[in-house]
Amino acid sequence: MTFSRRKTLALVGGGVILAATASLGTIATRKTRTAGLPWTVAGQGEDARHRALSYALLAPNPHNRQPWLVDLRSPGEVMLYVDTARLLPHTDPFSRQITIGLGCFLELLRMAASHDGQRVTITPFPEGHDDNALDARPVARAVFSADPSVTPDPLFAHVMQRRSNKEPYDTARPLPDDTLARLAVAQHGLFGGTIAEDEVARWRSFSREALRIEIETPHTYRESVDLFRIGRDEVDANPDGIDFGGPLFEVMAATGLFTREAALDTTSQAYKAGLDAVYANTDTAMGHVWLVTPGNSRPDQIAAGADWLRVNLAATGAGVAFQPLSQALQEYPEMAELYADLHARLAPGGGTVQMLARIGYGPEVAPSPRWPLEAKILDA
Ligand SMILES: Cc1cc2nc3c(=O)[nH]c(=O)nc-3n(C[C@H](O)[C@H](O)[C@H](O)COP(=O)(O)O)c2cc1C
Repeated sequence: MTFSRRKTLALVGGGVILAATASLGTIATRKTRTAGLPWTVAGQGEDARHRALSYALLAPNPHNRQPWLVDLRSPGEVMLYVDTARLLPHTDPFSRQITIGLGCFLELLRMAASHDGQRVTITPFPEGHDDNALDARPVARAVFSADPSVTPDPLFAHVMQRRSNKEPYDTARPLPDDTLARLAVAQHGLFGGTIAEDEVARWRSFSREALRIEIETPHTYRESVDLFRIGRDEVDANPDGIDFGGPLFEVMAATGLFTREAALDTTSQAYKAGLDAVYANTDTAMGHVWLVTPGNSRPDQIAAGADWLRVNLAATGAGVAFQPLSQALQEYPEMAELYADLHARLAPGGGTVQMLARIGYGPEVAPSPRWPLEAKILDA
């Protein structure tokens, strides 16, 4: 669930904000100090693993939890683990989305290394896995070997511009007919999509309803609100979760107009503004894309992550904004009806819908916060 900054400004009474901005002067203009640094140092590092990891940590991942931990003690090898303190037990009860995010991380690692003359051989779950829960066993073993014949992956060119664009899209700009063909770069799962007006209209209301259910279900909504990082200091202190940075939220945080408590209060202006803001996103989709896998094992989810990163990068290359809409794909009781409906639509012959996203033309957005690599190296 994500708030669009622009829309929230309008809804919470621009007037109040502007007045407060004037009086709070410098607070309003504060930029994060450290949360964006990993984007500026990507590609640096003493060895090929560090250089590739500095890109891998820029991967898309649910709720920006960044649940990756790496062990680098064996030369030429990265052992990837999941940080089980960074799961999403309410919105992602089987850690399917977390595993997809780890798949995005591994694919970006492989891509970055391919531009550094390194071939990476990835073995998912070398000590086995449990399809119901992630645990302390390694998620993957990645072995690096210098190989001048490795083919640099062209999609890597878009890594620094790749975003999950959580702003309203331009409904006056239809997507060109070749958009889906340009995004069809999945190598494992079944990629699909539509830009047909009538189908998009149906997906808009479907995804809006799924968001309503997630927000109106206290345990899933609470999981998101607990991850709100409001204002620069909170974003720098925890460069993960759902970040609210920039002048608007600095002032709203400073004036108490926007807090986690206010967001949880369903009678508050902040709550109403938040609802409208997320609906402004679903309601301005100009197309939808999805990914279906025949199976739903952990290796399937890792492969779905690799595919998803590729689709996100291809969208970036095509100048198309992209935002996952995972609500209806989530496996908790309150969402069961929409989950079944979604699978009847996209996987009538069986299979699991692993990802769904809206596409269109959106405003430019800043890179999202990240923890630095040092914070993710075990026994560094
Ligand atoms: C498996 C998965 C599920 C996601 N689900 C959502 C979602 O439902 N809504 C959303 O706005 N973003 C979703 N995202 C995007 C993340 O929120 C985003 O990757 C993260 O905040 C980092 O931002 P960035 O992609 O712009 O770097 C998802 C990403 C992944 C990999």
